[in-house]
Parts: sequence; structure tokens; C-alpha cells
Amino acid sequence: MDKFVIEGPNSLKGEVTVSGSKNASLPMMAAAILTTEDVILHNVPDLKDIATMCKLLVELGCRCKREDKTIVINCSNLDSNKAPYELVKTMRASILVLGPLMARLHNAEVSLPGGCAIGVRPVNFHIDGLRALSADVKIENGYIVSTAKKLKGGSIYFDIPSVTGTENLMMAATLADGETVMKNAAKEPEVVDLAKMLIMMGAKIDGIGDSIIRIDGVDKLSGVEYTVMNDRIEAGTLMVAALATSSEVTIKGMPIYAMDAIVDKFKEIGGKIEIIDKDVAVVGGKTIKPTIISTAVYPGFPTDMQAQFMAVLSLADGSSIIKETIFENRFMHAAELNRLGANIVISGNEAVVNGVDRFVGATVMATDLRASASLVIAGLAAEGKTEVLRIYHLDRGYEKLEEKLSNLGAVIRREKE
Ligand code: EPU
Repeated sequence: MDKFVIEGPNSLKGEVTVSGSKNASLPMMAAAILTTEDVILHNVPDLKDIATMCKLLVELGCRCKREDKTIVINCSNLDSNKAPYELVKTMRASILVLGPLMARLHNAEVSLPGGCAIGVRPVNFHIDGLRALSADVKIENGYIVSTAKKLKGGSIYFDIPSVTGTENLMMAATLADGETVMKNAAKEPEVVDLAKMLIMMGAKIDGIGDSIIRIDGVDKLSGVEYTVMNDRIEAGTLMVAALATSSEVTIKGMPIYAMDAIVDKFKEIGGKIEIIDKDVAVVGGKTIKPTIISTAVYPGFPTDMQAQFMAVLSLADGSSIIKETIFENRFMHAAELNRLGANIVISGNEAVVNGVDRFVGATVMATDLRASASLVIAGLAAEGKTEVLRIYHLDRGYEKLEEKLSNLGAVIRREKE
């Protein structure tokens, strides 16, 4: 296992470029199952989760090849309907093959993902949605076993807007007979990016970016060449790192159009941002002010930025309140930040973050992807040496983070634990 060793405090300076979005790339890769033609995706980040999705597609009989930032997938020889537990347990997003497999083969066996560090994370919306599209779905031996003569358009209502739920069912509905209407659908930019790609493949989708999405099933989808959007969460993480270290950094490739809530909160807590171009901004700041944050579905404040803001707000001049409304157990980083000198008190789904003057280096353990990022941010700001253990979590979702931070002048290196 690898760890990061960070010598602080650091001051960051220079330019950094944001990578392609993990959470947009994953469903697009799964969408390749919908066609027998080549799906060529550009700007795909080189991450563990992307490699896992490629492996899963190969397991299903597809070809999946990476060359630099481009992935070429061809599923003309799709010959399996099974996403095995061994792969799904390493990446929950594997569930994204369920909808496309049902659309193309009319049957699928996908392992139930089980819980994860941030919450129980049920998949009942995915299952109920397929049933609404006339599939017969059972749970057998830990697998979702789904069959249909052919999917038929139907009406799907989400109790809570689910990102991968919306994506999975949108993909399933593209090849169903007739019209599907999804209500209270997720509006996240990654869902919109997937819908745009599906439309280029020939899908008929109306209302993208809206909470009501209508999909008119078509007989066939074609191949596509598509450039994945950049990662708004990586961009936000870099913004927060600049503020936590009282630095000024130029971030290129920021999907600013998709970052309103992040940018607004950043400004509210004292962050400075000067937008130079549509996707370039100079960010940073010297003083950190307390605030109140409640995570919400898009366009609200993303749960995937909660941990990173907790790190920077630990250094604020006063007390902040952070409420996590999406996942029931997404405060594991708080105890680790406290090991670095933060003063965070958790009560249920609320954290009171009392500002302290400084972080002091220590050994801390990453528990999930965004928790890892918050510990790296704190480690950059901390005085002395911080070791962040178990960064395999971070490797799932941040491309070359230590290289990008080193190029900004940070003293950070990867070592074996
Ligand atoms: N939910 C259900 N039933 C379902 C599906 C979801 O109750 O069938 C609940 C969840 O428990 C949660 C809420 O609905 O309380 C929203 O979860 P959602 O389904 O939107 O989450 P997800 O699709 O599993 C994606 C991202 C996550 C991100 C969330 C929320 C991908 C691959 N994953 O997960 O990303 O936190 O949306 O925005 O897109 C990350 O990148 O670190 C990450 C965890």
C-alpha cells in the first residue's frame, strides 16, 4: 500500500490543469454496451476506477483499450451478462452496466454492491426503475438477476434524485419500446454529459439537466466520439487547497459552468477567484471565514466537496456548521482531521467545525476518496510532517494528484507504507 508524505506548511504557486471527470467517464464507458460500433472517449482520466470499468467491460466480452487520454471501447462481441462480485465489490459504479445490459441483451446478472465507508448506499431505485420498464428483477445469491422480453417504456419516479440511478435507467430506456418518463431525476452535470453523448449516439432524450427527463426508445444506437467534461470536484479540491495554504494558483480546465455552489461557498469563506477565461481562474486567499454548509443534490453544494471544505474551515476564524444530507456516514475524516489539530465535533449528520490557528503534522488514515483529499489539504497546510496512509482510496479518483501538487511547489511524495 502507498502513502503520501507531506512536509508542511506549503505554499502553492503556478498553474495546474484539471483532468477529465471520473464520474462522467464511468457511465459513458458503460454506455458502450448499447452499441456494436466503436465508442471513442477522449479526456478520460487515468484512474483505478476507470481501469476497473475497463476490466469489467472486457469480462463482458467488449474490447477496451486506452491510449493516452483516449479510451476506445467496442462491444460488438458482447457475450456475457454477468458483472461478478469480485469486480463490483471493488467499485460500486459497476452497477452502471445493469441498464445497458438490459437494453442490449434483455437479461443481466449484476452483483449487489453492498455498503461502503460513507453509507449503506442501497440500489433499490435502479431495481424499481427496471421493473417500471417491464423487467422481472429478483435478488438471488447476492446478485440482481434481471430479465425481460424487451424493455418497455415506463414511468419512473425517484424518491431522492439518484445520480447513477438516473444514468442507469436513462441508458436502459434508450433502446426500450416506447416512451419513458423519469421524474425527480438527478440534474448533476455528469448526468447531462452522459445524455449529450447518448443523443450523439442517436438516443432521443428530452429535458436533460431537468428533473423530468423523457426518453423515446429507438431501435439502435451508433458509435460515437466524445470528449468527457472536466472534473468539477478535482477543480474544487484544488481551489480549497490553495485557500488552506494561503496561496494563489491558476487552475486551467475548470468546468466553471458546473461549479456555482462551490464557487459561491468558496467566496463566502474568503476565497478569491478571478475568472480569466471560461475555464481558467486564479484562485486562493489569505483569510478564512466560517460558514454554514448543507450538502444537497445539484445545483446544491456537492457532498463530494464536503470533506475538503471541512479541512479548510478547520482553519477559519470562528465556528462553522456542516450538515451532510446525502450520505449517512460521511464524516469519517473528522476524527482524522482532529488528529492534525482540528476541533470538529460531530452530532448525527451535523459537524461543528471550530476554527483553530493551525494544523500540526501527524499520521492519518484515509477512509474514502474525498476523505483522502481533505487529509491531503490539511497535510499541505500543517506544520511538520504528515503521513496520509491508504491513499489507494485517493488513487481511485484523483489523477496524479501528488505530481500536480509537486509542480505547484508542494513537498509531497508517494512512499510504500
Ligand atoms: N439512494 C437510494 N437508493 C438508490 C440509490 C440511491 O436510497 O437506489 C440514495 C443514496 O443512499 C443517497 C442518495 O440516494 O442517500 C443519493 O445517492 P446517489 O444514487 O445519487 O449516489 P451514487 O449515484 O451512488 C454518485 C457519485 C458519488 C456521489 C453521489 C452523490 C458516481 C460514480 N458516484 O453516487 O461519487 O457522491 O453520486 O452526488 O457518479 C465520489 O466520487 O467520491 C462519489 C462517492
